[in-house]
Amino acid sequence: MSTRIHATGTPPHASIMSPKFHGFLQLQPIILSFLFLFLISTPSFNITCAPTHTDLDTWISWHLQNYKNKSLQYSNTKPESVTQRASSTGVDWRLRMAEMNRIEISVSQDGAADFKTITEAIHTIPLYNNRRVLIRINSGVYREKVNIPRTMRFITFVGNASDPPTITGNDTASTVSGRDGTPLRTFQSATVAVDADYFMAINIKFENTAPHVVGTVGGQAVALRISGTKAAFYNCSFYGSQDTLYDHKGLHYFSNCFIQGSVDFIFGYGTSLYENCYLKSVSKKVASVTAQKRSNSSISSGFSFKNCTVTGSGSIYLGRAWGDYSRVIFSYTFMDKIVLPQGWSDWGKQSRDQKVFYGEYKCSGPGANLTGRVPWARALTDQEAMPFIGTYYVDGDTWLIDPSLYQL
Ligand SMILES: *[C@@H]1O[C@H](CO)[C@@H](O)[C@H](O)[C@H]1NC(C)=O
Ligand SMILES: *[C@@H]1O[C@H](CO)[C@@H](O)[C@H](O)[C@H]1NC(C)=O
Ligand SMILES: *[C@@H]1O[C@H](CO)[C@@H](O)[C@H](O)[C@H]1NC(C)=O
Ligand SMILES: *[C@@H]1O[C@H](CO)[C@@H](O)[C@H](O)[C@H]1NC(C)=O
Ligand SMILES: *[C@@H]1O[C@H](CO)[C@@H](O)[C@H](O)[C@H]1NC(C)=O
Ligand SMILES: *[C@@H]1O[C@H](CO)[C@@H](O)[C@H](O)[C@H]1NC(C)=O
Ligand SMILES: *[C@@H]1O[C@H](CO)[C@@H](O)[C@H](O)[C@H]1NC(C)=O
Repeated sequence: MSTRIHATGTPPHASIMSPKFHGFLQLQPIILSFLFLFLISTPSFNITCAPTHTDLDTWISWHLQNYKNKSLQYSNTKPESVTQRASSTGVDWRLRMAEMNRIEISVSQDGAADFKTITEAIHTIPLYNNRRVLIRINSGVYREKVNIPRTMRFITFVGNASDPPTITGNDTASTVSGRDGTPLRTFQSATVAVDADYFMAINIKFENTAPHVVGTVGGQAVALRISGTKAAFYNCSFYGSQDTLYDHKGLHYFSNCFIQGSVDFIFGYGTSLYENCYLKSVSKKVASVTAQKRSNSSISSGFSFKNCTVTGSGSIYLGRAWGDYSRVIFSYTFMDKIVLPQGWSDWGKQSRDQKVFYGEYKCSGPGANLTGRVPWARALTDQEAMPFIGTYYVDGDTWLIDPSLYQL
């Protein structure tokens, strides 16, 4: 079970850096090798005698069952992304260890929790982190620029479902930073920037309030940048205008999220599945929902939207090609009339028309009419769509955690 850290008695910093924490780190190689041997020698994973952790057992068996189901289901279709990675499949042991040693800390602006700001809480976590740290963030508006460094893995932000906390900022690409007097650029404009792997967020509102002024440059204003791999977002919202969600790189999963923006509001070269998400354009003119940057046909990058809704204002393309091999798929998605009949844009480079992969599958609504689409858009067959329309697209069966594990 997780170790709860209470504010009372010990200073928060001392409690997270407790001897227990350090002791665990020393023991870890031994435990790890034990566990690893144990796991590779027990194919059925019936871990009743293993290090006991009921939730974890449930999670592991859920994953195995899920993986077996998927393998059976898709063994005949052999989609490129699945077969390529089949050899590396199995539940991720590093993640399993992190979950078994989970701790919780809390943040509340009224001083009733361990910390008053998210930044303070993050500063107490070891830079080279090996445990799941669940940060419970109480409702409120946090005006903070949050950065999770590359080695600080396994961080989870959890907010209140009925009143999610907002993390807000208003930096843009052209904001001049105090430190060296140069503009931040898009990359550093993010209100929340995650460079670490295994990040999760549940019920959090990420925001960048900088307005998009039509015709100006340097207005990119990112609400969240996710650059680590194996990251998942559940019931989160992303509010911004130009370049709201920087889906930079790595395997990502977005479930039941709300994403609002005007220009290229989901962009980057992540390999990502967006399931049951609501994409809202606030554009006043012609814009694009995505700017996907896959630059090479041999890399797995691409955005897949499944059972989403595309709506809002302006006239929008579903995607425009930022990279030569830009790849975006919409399946089972409702498209409002704001979607332009052409559907997709090559960003003025015709050389990209034969290289990009822009597919649609079983979409509905007035914007989903394929009649006026650019000739290089694809109406996918069942077989072609299959590789993109499950969590296996992001290798999820090895690392996605059922959020109910955290007993929210
Ligand atoms: C796997 O398939 C079985 C039988 O079809 C089903 O009962 C079970 O719920 C499935 N498990 C998962 C995790 O999808
Ligand atoms: C979540 O927010 C609602 C509405 O503000 C509040 O009634 C409830 O107590 C909160 N839950 C927790 C666990 O803080
Ligand atoms: C950004 O937010 C700060 C703090 O609230 C405010 O002082 C500033 O005017 C805002 N800048 C812009 C461009 O909105
Ligand atoms: C997300 O919200 C849905 C309702 O929209 C709820 O059923 C689900 O449990 C929530 N998921 C999490 C992880 O809180
Ligand atoms: C599709 O998304 C809607 C809205 O998010 C959700 O209510 C519904 O359960 C989803 N359907 C499936 C099959 O996941
Ligand atoms: C794609 O990437 C691979 C490996 O990095 C490289 O060998 C190949 O030349 C690249 N192809 C193109 C068209 O850039
Ligand atoms: C799709 O668009 C074409 C041309 O605008 C139109 O003739 C056709 O009726 C539309 N189909 C549907 C199903 O709305």
